Amino acid sequence: MIAVIGSSNIDMVINVDDFTLPGQTQKGLELSYYPGGKGANQAVTAKSLGRDVLFLTCLGNDGNAQMMKRELEAIDLGNGIRYVDSPNGVALIEVSRSGENRIIVYPGANSRLSPDIIDDSRESLLKADILLLQNEIPFESSLYAAKLFNEAGKTVIFDPAPSSGIDKSILQYVDIITPNETEMAELTGHNLGIEDATAKLHEMGCGNVLLKRGNKGIFFSGRSKSLVVPAFKVRAVDSTAAGDVFNGAFACSLDRGLDLRVSLRYASAAAALSVTRRGAQKSVPRNEEIESLLGE
Ligand code: RIB
Repeated sequence: MIAVIGSSNIDMVINVDDFTLPGQTQKGLELSYYPGGKGANQAVTAKSLGRDVLFLTCLGNDGNAQMMKRELEAIDLGNGIRYVDSPNGVALIEVSRSGENRIIVYPGANSRLSPDIIDDSRESLLKADILLLQNEIPFESSLYAAKLFNEAGKTVIFDPAPSSGIDKSILQYVDIITPNETEMAELTGHNLGIEDATAKLHEMGCGNVLLKRGNKGIFFSGRSKSLVVPAFKVRAVDSTAAGDVFNGAFACSLDRGLDLRVSLRYASAAAALSVTRRGAQKSVPRNEEIESLLGE
């Protein structure tokens, strides 16, 4: 079983030719509302790919919360929802013609996911073998959860996204940290090459660094071995949530008992397929599609 503790957002996505410049007003090409949030995207991925998942998240008191509730309940992820008196989390997303995105997150209800709420669900959460964390809930809550699972001997996978407000004290409780290149630079400093940056994260206390490099593939650095996994070539339409789909699929494969290299390839194929589709959770591929891409 996999536990996910994290955010739920409604994504308000506007497609544009090119990103809006400072001081510029431009007309968007299309407007869509999608269920998103890094926590929810990871939970929905792992659940859709067939794992048993408990997703602890806070929803607010508005229409966006109702939309999110329907989406989570539709795939049997409603058990871990907690309601708080606040607007729901929202993300404003621009997606350019080349499929890149820019995101502003308003945390809303996600900022109310406290250590007390985690503690209330402690018994059910600790039935999981793997914990997936991101950084869209209060950092103290992620730190609390990482410590709880680490002390119980479970595997903790931490996605440092967004990378602001992270204290390195969490790294001693994390088995695998999964930054993208921007997050890696923000965590370790901007002038370091990949090997020096990963070495710095090892020095800070994290045993395994999994760097997500988009269409340049994956660089994995453990204390004793490194692995490079090339990216699958696809036509990008919308890269939103590709990193979340990666983490959800990676945890899913590890939870099935598959080894590191196989799990990295499985997750890379899932993420590649997700960028060929629009939306966050709407872009999660089916298991058969992943297997078919892996078999090509
Ligand atoms: O990683 C993509 C996600 O980031 C979006 O779904 C948005 O809600 C923000 O959390």
